Amino acid sequence: MSEILEKKWLKEAVSTVPAGFSGKTAWQSPSNIALVKYWGKHGNQLPNNPSISLTLSASKSETCIQYERNDSSHLQLKFFFEGKENPAFAEKIQRFLNQIIPYFPFLDLLSLAISSSNTFPHSSGIASSASAMSALVMGVLAIENKLTNATKIDLIKASYFSRLGSGSASRSVFPVAAVWGKTAFLAESSDTFALPMAQQLHQVFQDYYDSILIIDSGTKAVSSRAGHALMDNNPFAPARYEQANKNIQELYGAMQIGDLAAFIRITEAEALQLHALMMSSNPAYFLMQPNSLAAIKAIQNFRESTQTPLCFTLDAGPNIHLLYPAIVRKEVLVFIKNQLLPLCANGFWIDDKVGQGASAI
Ligand code: PMV
Repeated sequence: MSEILEKKWLKEAVSTVPAGFSGKTAWQSPSNIALVKYWGKHGNQLPNNPSISLTLSASKSETCIQYERNDSSHLQLKFFFEGKENPAFAEKIQRFLNQIIPYFPFLDLLSLAISSSNTFPHSSGIASSASAMSALVMGVLAIENKLTNATKIDLIKASYFSRLGSGSASRSVFPVAAVWGKTAFLAESSDTFALPMAQQLHQVFQDYYDSILIIDSGTKAVSSRAGHALMDNNPFAPARYEQANKNIQELYGAMQIGDLAAFIRITEAEALQLHALMMSSNPAYFLMQPNSLAAIKAIQNFRESTQTPLCFTLDAGPNIHLLYPAIVRKEVLVFIKNQLLPLCANGFWIDDKVGQGASAI
């Protein structure tokens, strides 16, 4: 499937830009939180196992691209992050755009001024690569549409190229939830792009909350890139990939019928397994902090004593994503305030929930 798409996109690639072509396009794209985690990759950003995520709404990047035809035959790029020119980020973006230029040759005939910012603080410990890369790709596709007079962005194409910037970015463009990675139970699934899942899921997940508890706002000691690479020699890797395949099928089934008990069991097991993989890497490392464990214990105790269907997941960091349905929002807010905020860095948390994916602003 992806080979057919790649050929089609190469064939349709736009390589001319009319004189005087200029304009501006602005996009927002959210972060996402994986439930079954992508951890370990090969080739050009291909996952070693399938993953499923909830698309967020409050944690997002906003990216504006001003474009203008240039006559140098080379992409000219300026990048501003949170209002300030940022040559280090510009270099990263330039490398990424150079990689995708065979599919978007018109970029070589443009000068771009890209301004990007995140709605969550830079130092919140929330990874911004998924939201930032997907917002950028939406902008590139919007410029392509302007050149071809097309009106709709192909989200599969957006997902494919976002993936090349950051694997998890492939899942951010879709509303509510997405699956990325080939898996036997979803015939159309692919390692090169994610699929939208909103339509297949039970109503309860269309309005699900993710209260992100910032346990530590510092940068990670080991980057995701290094973490993925350590999976290559992790002795538990084969068992992990088998588990992930089983978990995603079971979780997907639970999410279709709204089985919250199974959702909670698999989501928490996945979070702990991700961190167990880090602890069993060579060299071993761990990203949780004492307060991450204290919050996990508090969440599990609260669930047991009140029967409230809430659970936690973790990204590659110490912060806790507290997931729960809208119906228990009120009591969970009281629980957060009384028991969890004292464990957060300066009492900081992000009130997030599932959202609708990327959109123009
Ligand atoms: O997309 P990357 O390369 O930043 O890796 C993301 C890895 C996790 O966030 C830990 C899991 C996931 O599936 O998003």
